[in-house]
Amino acid sequence: MPHLEDVQAALRQIKFPGFSRDIVSFGVVREVVVESDRTRIVLAPPQGVPDLLERIRPEIEARLREIPGLPPLEIVEVAAAGNPAAARAEAPQHSPHKRIPGVRTILAVASGKGGVGKSTVASNIALALAAEGLRAGLLDADVYGPSTTLLLGVEGSRTQVTAEKRIVPVLAHGISMVSMGLFVEREQAVIWRGPMVTKLVREFLFNVEWGDLDVLVLDLPPGTGDVQLTLAQQIEMDGGLIVTTPQEVALADVRRGMKMFQQMKVPVLGVLENMSGYVCPHCDHETAIFGRGGGQRLAAELSLPYLGSIPLIPAIGARGDEGTPIVASDPASPAALRFRELARTLSRDLGLAGADRPAAHSHA
Ligand SMILES: Nc1ncnc2c1ncn2[C@@H]1O[C@H](COP(=O)(O)OP(=O)(O)OP(=O)(O)O)[C@@H](O)[C@H]1O
Ligand SMILES: [Mg+2]
Repeated sequence: MPHLEDVQAALRQIKFPGFSRDIVSFGVVREVVVESDRTRIVLAPPQGVPDLLERIRPEIEARLREIPGLPPLEIVEVAAAGNPAAARAEAPQHSPHKRIPGVRTILAVASGKGGVGKSTVASNIALALAAEGLRAGLLDADVYGPSTTLLLGVEGSRTQVTAEKRIVPVLAHGISMVSMGLFVEREQAVIWRGPMVTKLVREFLFNVEWGDLDVLVLDLPPGTGDVQLTLAQQIEMDGGLIVTTPQEVALADVRRGMKMFQQMKVPVLGVLENMSGYVCPHCDHETAIFGRGGGQRLAAELSLPYLGSIPLIPAIGARGDEGTPIVASDPASPAALRFRELARTLSRDLGLAGADRPAAHSHA
């Protein structure tokens, strides 16, 4: 059946909108049948993406037109639950609005590209939220390049598992955290395939004793990929923060981040500019090495709230490398205070600032 293989190969070229993974490997293509008089493709879009067929139909048609002699195309869409086997295999992935018991809100920290300081920001924000009196956790969702065990000084910590085989998070400076870095050596190159990533992410979300948290901060891997796609399917997130650097070229990256959150159905709380002006460690003078106002212009251009900037401060990097982020090691420093201010803004946006929260816990 050469046609069948051609069709499958063509479908493998089609990306899930907004993501780098193709629709076949993601399991959206339920069935492909080439008969003498028709080519039938059955798609089972994940819940929460009701317009998937509409969006990918033109590309499917265009690609299949290139296969000579292929019988007329018929594309059918079924609900994932319409196929009993698929429904069994995927039931946990397709329940909409899934929450983690005990976890009130989820804040995702993302960026369009790597190295912009996402993990540094995510760690400091989680600590700053805790410093504001909230019960905070950090889930390092960067299963390919976990760095938060180093940043929070818990590298080499052994994780505990309950009798029910649930993972107990590690405590770091008053917050609960889980990272792939607790399970593999940091230098070890980890190349997870899609289905494994889905498994890991689900494990980290639902098989961890997160306990009662006001907010769980997710440190996402850069860009868009399997982790983001899995999260979008597995869990309802309450807010997304896009971290960017001040260069003008960052516009495309932020737009990518914004698109990704839209795909994931996560409300974007705003853009944070990291490593803006350089603050001299000797005289505290701030130099706008990349010019001023870039982040603000960029946020305005994309109609996103601008959440301010965190300067390039050598101490921020150094404290991270030492395992005690600046919010924990030097809480009175201007940088720590900026993170605290940011945490207050975010907790308000997440609806956590209200008086309905029991005040009986502290992180002192
Ligand atoms: N505001 C800052 N001032 C000084 N150094 C910073 C600042 N933010 C981040 N850094 C440093 O920049 C480097 C990259 O930061 P980080 O690892 O947090 O980025 P990332 O976006 O998570 O990267 P990746 O895409 O690899 O996950 C680190 O060495 C970190 O210490
Ligand atoms: Mg990182």
